[in-house]
Amino acid sequence: MTFLVGKSMDLIMLMVFLSSTLSLAHPGFTFDWFGGGNGGGYYGLFPEFYQYSCPQANDIVMSVLEKAISKEPRMAASLLRLHFHDCFVQGCDASILLDDSTTIVSEKRSNPNRNSIRGFEVIDEIKARLEEACPQIVSCADILALAARGSTVLSGGPYWELPLGRKDSKTASLSGSNNNIPAPNSTLPNLITFFNRQGLDEVDLVALSGSHTIGVARCVSFRQRLYNQNGNNQPDETLERTYHYSLTSVCPQSGGDNNISPLDFASPAKFDNTYFKLILWGKGLLNSDEVLLTGNVGKTMELVKSYAKDEGLFFNQFAKSMVKMGYISPLTGYNGEVRKNCRRIN
Ligand code: HEM
Ligand SMILES: *[C@@H]1O[C@H](CO)[C@@H](O)[C@H](O)[C@H]1NC(C)=O
Repeated sequence: MTFLVGKSMDLIMLMVFLSSTLSLAHPGFTFDWFGGGNGGGYYGLFPEFYQYSCPQANDIVMSVLEKAISKEPRMAASLLRLHFHDCFVQGCDASILLDDSTTIVSEKRSNPNRNSIRGFEVIDEIKARLEEACPQIVSCADILALAARGSTVLSGGPYWELPLGRKDSKTASLSGSNNNIPAPNSTLPNLITFFNRQGLDEVDLVALSGSHTIGVARCVSFRQRLYNQNGNNQPDETLERTYHYSLTSVCPQSGGDNNISPLDFASPAKFDNTYFKLILWGKGLLNSDEVLLTGNVGKTMELVKSYAKDEGLFFNQFAKSMVKMGYISPLTGYNGEVRKNCRRIN
């Protein structure tokens, strides 16, 4: 039985390979191997997608990441976040990478992204190397997913089998970016709603928030908590006092908007479960971090405690939730395209 499954998978890969080769030679010629009627002819995403067409894809991604992250450890965090901000806006389709053009209004200047999202040059370098090795094979959307996984691993976090085969969008959505990415001062019911809208539940919310074990936030993203959490000119009472005091020196009441502070000050470049321990101590940086514990939802509160206690449990769920997030409305088959340059449509 195992033998048969293995063989039929090989056959599927061969068919996929032939189908992409043939479609280059005969652009008008389309297959519908599995009768899925999804416009692409084959189903879903799968880890071996580039096994024949670009077997070295992940190695190329990893070698660029190793260099970039050793030069600047924060880059791992920035790349992980890019995948999140891509997937929450019209699906994991690399829409976030598109620059302004005559037909594109870039997502890069949305409220959540402006002066904040980064890592585009690293994605450009990965894409350039992949275009040399396997021209027009590996999509920018898959590069973002591979970079998110690689960044997690290189920071000391878990590895996961990563389904691939996403295509790139020909559109971007500035309003989608403004409306679908939760703000740092979100309440817990708010966060749950935003995640549910993407097909993600409370477990995914807590696990994926664990990404804030690496990287930084700007003063503008947490100032409200320091000075006027509820319109009463008082700090957020869930914010531990000595931590509050140290944050006020980085983030004054006015000015210094772009001053940065680590999301996990105890181990800012290490992917571990310290983020959850800090939340238990009232030292989560963003309101959206602390409310996972204090927002009066038993389920998320219990999960924060469990992940703080058991790093393995967190890693395991993080991996699963990353795969789930990576499945948000991908373009597959003949939908979308493989961009030659991630910043513009072909
Ligand atoms: C739960 C809702 C979330 C909210 C409200 C949120 C909000 C934020 C904010 C405000 C920042 C700092 C941006 C700045 O000040 O420039 C940030 C950084 C970051 N976020 Fe989130 N985030 C959320 C979920 C996620 C998820 C699901 C991921 C990844 C799967 C993620 C990964 C990151 C990373 C790695 C950073 C640091 C980036 C860097 O240092 O360049 N976040 N987030
Ligand atoms: C979050 O911040 C925005 C902009 O500063 C503000 O309009 C909104 O009322 C805040 N939301 C909460 C829940 O405090």
